[in-house]
Order: sequence, then C-alpha cells, then structure tokens
Amino acid sequence: MESPFKAGILKGKVALITGGASGIGFEISTQFGKHGASVALMGRRTQVLHSAVSVLQSLSIPVFNSLFFFSPMATFLQFNSLFAQFSLPSTLTNHISAILFNLCRFIQNEAVGFEGDVRKPEDAERVVESTFKYFGRIDILVNAAAGNFLVSAEDLSPNGFRTVLDIDSVGTFTMCREALKYLKKGGEGRSSSSGGGSIINISATLHYTASWYQIHVSAAKAAVDATTRNLALEWGTDYDIRVNGIAPGPISDTPGMSKLAPDEISSKARDYMPLYKLGEKWDIAMTAIFLVSDAGKFINGDILIVDGGLWLSRPRH
Ligand code: HXC
Repeated sequence: MESPFKAGILKGKVALITGGASGIGFEISTQFGKHGASVALMGRRTQVLHSAVSVLQSLSIPVFNSLFFFSPMATFLQFNSLFAQFSLPSTLTNHISAILFNLCRFIQNEAVGFEGDVRKPEDAERVVESTFKYFGRIDILVNAAAGNFLVSAEDLSPNGFRTVLDIDSVGTFTMCREALKYLKKGGEGRSSSSGGGSIINISATLHYTASWYQIHVSAAKAAVDATTRNLALEWGTDYDIRVNGIAPGPISDTPGMSKLAPDEISSKARDYMPLYKLGEKWDIAMTAIFLVSDAGKFINGDILIVDGGLWLSRPRH
C-alpha cells in the first residue's frame, strides 16, 4: 500500500532498530529507509541481517534512482574516480572526497547491519557505538527485538520467564541507556540547534487483561510500557527526548503470529475482530513514522495501540 507520508519525511535522520532484520522490525526499517532515513539494524542472526541489509540498500528516494548507483559508497567511488583524472593537490582532493562522501550519504539513505544480542550489555554498547561511528549521529532508536513462546505458567521455568524479560524488558532499557548520550539534546553528534532524538518501544496489548500461556511476555511487555512512560518523563524533561510505545495487536505474516497463533486466528478474524481482519506490518511501520516525524513532535510517553480495536472486544454471544 502506498504511504501517506512524503518520501523524504525522515531525510537526514539515522535510526537504529533492534530486531530490525525480521518481522515488524524489518518493515519499520524498510519504511524508514523508503522515507529517507539511514538505518542500522541489530540482530542475532548474521544471514538474516545480511539479506535484510541488501534489500534496504536497494532503496533510495525514487528521483535519485536514475542518477546514481544504489549504494552511496558506489556513488562516492564513481565520483571519486572522476576527480582522480585531474591532477589536483592531494589536500584539495581529500576535501572534495570528504564533501562528496557526505553528500552521497545525504542524498541516498543507507543501511547497515550489526550483529548483537540485546541481552548482552557489551553487544548493546558496541552496536550503538558502531552506529554512531558509521553515520555520525543517531536520531531514532526503535526497540523491536523480542522473544516469545507459548507455555502454561505451570510449565514455565524461572529461567524461561527470565529469558523473555531479559530480551524484551531489560534489552529495551539497556539499548535506551546506551543510546542516551547520542539522543539527548546537545549530545554527541547533535548540533546545538537540533533538539533531542526519539525512541519507540514495541510492546503489545496482552497485559491490558490477561493472556493464556503468555505470562512471561505479558509481564515483559508491561515492563516495557512502564519503561516507556518513565523515560518519557525523565528524558523528555532533562534531554528533550520523546519516548513512545506502539502496542500492536495480531499482525499477519510475523514470527509472532506463526509462533503464537497459527492459521486459526486468520480464518476466524471475521468472527471476532472489530475491523474483521488482522493488522499488517505496514500499519505498525506507518505508526512509527508518524511518531518519530514532526507530526508527532508533541507526543511523549504515549503507547499507541494499533490493533483495530481488538483489545476492547469480547467474543460475540
Ligand atoms: C517452555 C521454553 C520454551 C518453550 C524456551 N524455553 N522455549 N520453555 N516452552 N517453548 C525456556 C528454556 O527451557 C530455558 O529455560 C529458557 O526458556 C531459555 O531457553 P533457550 O532456548 O536457552 O533461549 P534462547 O536460545 O536464548 O532463545 C530465546 C527464546 C527464543 C525467546 C526462547 O524463542 C527466541 O530466540 N526467540 C526470538 C524470536 C521470537 O521469539 N520472535 C517472536 C517474537 S513475537 P530452562 O529453565 O530450561 O533453562 C512477540 C509478539 C509479542 O514478541 C506479542 C504477541 C501478541
């Protein structure tokens, strides 16, 4: 579906997206890229990261597609070899190269992948630093990495419970904490005139009531929402950083759906879902664009429910 937003609405912004190579995270990465952002993806699986990045590198603002190679680096090299034909002083050539490199980066959005597990503080630190080194700034952090499986509370071990909290809740906090010095107003890589960056934490609606066989995820997502609100208060006040959440309902074609709710939900959607259908990853990505763009500049500490109204509903009698 065509985006309702202008293609360049995120131009010049750099986003780091955990879980950005698959499912909802990948759609957010893709749509951010299509709307002009440069994106860094963090994930645990090298192969998945590689293929996600190569898809993203083929995206650029349509008007420039016909003018440049897809990769900014290739474009840069193309120009560079052109200038090499003239015998200019090396300092001048270096200056021109630097200007061209930054220009190519500005014109074309870029994607890069960094392997890492949000449960490991050293990975979180390394990936955030690498993103900054690569792009020179960080404007947006999206915490989309998550873990899940269906299990009754009785059969869940404390370690199973802890594992999901470690990924979803502690992982989200760790990433926010590592990114703070780059996101805050006046922080590293931010000019004094630009404000703070923004954070989006992906949660769920499971914990609004109770959910069968998902005690661990419900607890984890409740903690994510609490983290969103608390950081919005503290970091909004102190650092001009907006922190918001998105709570998706059942979204088709995601690892979550195939793992948690096999075909059954899709086929019965019409019976009990207010809008008679599952959501799409696109719906979540558009919400993310809205929140991180200037359209959402006065939204802070909110958790936008994107489930077509499902959380309000009860089965028909
Ligand atoms: C019971 C289980 C289990 C299962 C793991 N465990 N799977 N217990 N039933 N099906 C327990 C293990 O026994 C172990 O406890 C502990 O959890 C850690 O398991 P590991 O396999 O060592 O963990 P790990 O390899 O790190 O894998 C993490 C994972 C895995 C969460 C278990 O599923 C994963 O990596 N998932 C990432 C991808 C994913 O789940 N995506 C879907 C997100 S969907 P013991 O006691 O034995 O040591 C989503 C949507 C939420 O988040 C909203 C829905 C609407």
